[in-house]
Amino acid sequence: MTNKYMYFIANWKMYGGLNSLNSLNKVIKFSKSREIKKGRLIYCPPYTLLNSFFTKFKNCLIDIGAQNCHQNYEYGPHTGYINPRMLKNIGANYVIIGHSENRTNGETDKLINKKIKSALRSKLKVIFCIGETLAEKKNKKTKSVLLKQIKFGLNKINNNSNLFIAYEPVWSIGTGRIPSIKELEQTIRFIKNKFKKKIPKILYGGSVNPRNIKDLKTIKDLDGFLIGGASQNPKKFIDIVKKTYN
Ligand code: PGA
Repeated sequence: MTNKYMYFIANWKMYGGLNSLNSLNKVIKFSKSREIKKGRLIYCPPYTLLNSFFTKFKNCLIDIGAQNCHQNYEYGPHTGYINPRMLKNIGANYVIIGHSENRTNGETDKLINKKIKSALRSKLKVIFCIGETLAEKKNKKTKSVLLKQIKFGLNKINNNSNLFIAYEPVWSIGTGRIPSIKELEQTIRFIKNKFKKKIPKILYGGSVNPRNIKDLKTIKDLDGFLIGGASQNPKKFIDIVKKTYN
């Protein structure tokens, strides 16, 4: 059982339409119950659903966030993009930046760094994703990869108060496979030790589900979870939260 304040962040990726809104009723009801003792639920749907989710969550404590943003703080001629101020303006409080699915599409550490700075300036809380690929893990490069992602991604960012680091091994995302608890404890501690001043909140992401949460919740250094696939099923999402506290 944990008594810690925990964050449960639902990453819906490129899924969901207006007909998904009904599926949120169960979660809204649950969020008002006492079962979620100390903690916060945050939904990151696609841009197209942000406003509908915001309206749906009006009378409860569930927050919303986006899955990415443009790097510019200023408005400008960038067809097809959304900047962090626009997200803040429609009620989002969070944004995921540096997800491996976007890194694969060409997002560099430098670009990620710009996005984080701009999002923090817009008063969004940033969920900064880091993680190694399977090949990097096999070549024992996990630590050096994480170090590089942290060093460049957070270059010249001194205030970590609104920062979350989501450790998501790339090989674990959507595969059903997670690192051993011992491995995870070591990696999470390694990440924490890289911060001299204020340590950001640390999340784990990658195939979190109602079965493995019993083991994952034993990792004391974690402040929550970034949940993809399982978060689209309200029962599974609620189960993950319940089991974290029981
Ligand atoms: P998953 O996704 O839970 O489906 O593995 C996690 C993520 O990509 O954030």
